[in-house]
Amino acid sequence: PDPERDRLIQAYELSAKFYHFLLKNTEYGTAAMDYLRSRGFSGKMIDQFQIGYAPDRWDTLLQFLDKRSFNLVEMEKGGLLSARGEGKGYIDRFRGRVIFPIANRTGKVVAFAGRILGDGQPKYLNSPESRLFNKSRILYNLHQSKASIRKTRQIVLFEGYGDVISAWEAGVHNGVATMGTSLTEGHVALMKSLGDEIVLAYDGDKAGQAAAMKAIPMLEDNGLRVKVAVLPSGLDPDEFISRHGGELFKEQVIDSAVSSIKFKLIYLKKNHILLEEDGKIAYVKEALEIIASLHSSTEREVYLREIASELELSYDSLKQDCNLLRASMQ
Ligand code: GTP
Ligand code: MN
Ligand code: MN
Ligand code: MN
Ligand code: MN
Repeated sequence: PDPERDRLIQAYELSAKFYHFLLKNTEYGTAAMDYLRSRGFSGKMIDQFQIGYAPDRWDTLLQFLDKRSFNLVEMEKGGLLSARGEGKGYIDRFRGRVIFPIANRTGKVVAFAGRILGDGQPKYLNSPESRLFNKSRILYNLHQSKASIRKTRQIVLFEGYGDVISAWEAGVHNGVATMGTSLTEGHVALMKSLGDEIVLAYDGDKAGQAAAMKAIPMLEDNGLRVKVAVLPSGLDPDEFISRHGGELFKEQVIDSAVSSIKFKLIYLKKNHILLEEDGKIAYVKEALEIIASLHSSTEREVYLREIASELELSYDSLKQDCNLLRASMQ
C-alpha cells in the first residue's frame, strides 16, 4: 500500500476530468477548442482521449486541488503544481496548454503532456518523472490499444500523441507512442509482452527515419518482427491523415508497410547518387552487407534481383559478391 501514490493518482484523475470539462464547457476552452478543430480533432476523439485545456492563469488547478484538500507539497512533487518563483506557495504547472492525459497500463492517469496553442517553446511540457510516471516504461494509449494488440499481436508505434489519436479515428486501434524520448529497452520489453510484430510509423522527416533505423535492431534483437510504414517526405502520420484522409492512411501507409530490410535499403539509397559509378558501387556495397546477413536464400535472391534490375547489374555478379561476403562473415 502506498497512500501517497494513490492520492497522486486521484489528483491526476480529477484534474484530467476538470481540464476536459474546462475545454468543452467553458469560455476558457474556446481558443483551445478552435485550435483542436483546426487540426482536425473531432469531438469524439476529444472525449475518447479525454483531451483538456489548462487556462492561461496561475491558480486554476491550485484552487481546485486546494478546495479538495490535497496536500500541495505532494501535488508539486507529482508535477501538477510548481513552486512559486519567489516566496512561498504554488502555481499551476500547466498554463495555456492543451492537456493530453497519459494513462498507465491499467488506465489510471499518471501524467500530462501539455501542448502550447500554436508556436512557442517548449512545444510540449510534460509532467516530471515521479513515483507514478517513468517515461521510459510508459507508452501513450497502451491502455486503450491493449485489446486490439492482443487480437492482432501487432503494435503500431508512433512518435506523437496526435498521430495516435488521428490514427485511432482512422480505425487503427493498436497504436501507441513513446513520450518524446527515443525507444528504450523498457518500451521494447513492454511491447514484447503483448505482441509479436511492430509497425514503425515514425515521422517522414530525417529525424523520424533515423529513429526508425535505430529502433529496428533494438526490436529485432528482442525477437520482434518489424515493418516500417513509409510516409511521404516530411509528413507525420497526423498530417498525412489531415491531408489525405484515414482510408488512404490505412491502405497506403499502414497496410503497405515494408519489411525492415526493404526500409533499410530505401534509407541507404537516399545517401547515394546512383547515377554516378562511385555512388552506385558504394550503395551496392552497403546493401550487400544487409542482404548477406539474411538467413533465407530465397529472401537474398529477392532483394538481389531487385537491386540488379534497378541498377542494371547482373544478378550473377551480385550473388557472387554476396556469397563472398557471407563466407567472410562466418
Ligand atoms: P504536433 O506538432 O502537436 O503535431 O506534435 P508532434 O507529435 O508531431 O511533435 P514532433 O514530431 O515534433 O515530436 C514528436 C514527439 O516528441 C511529440 O509528440 C512529443 O512527445 C515529443 N516532443 C516534441 N517536442 C517536444 C518538446 O518541446 N518537449 C517535450 N518534452 N517533448 C517534445
Ligand atoms: Mn468526455
Ligand atoms: Mn517529429
Ligand atoms: Mn510529428
Ligand atoms: Mn504532428
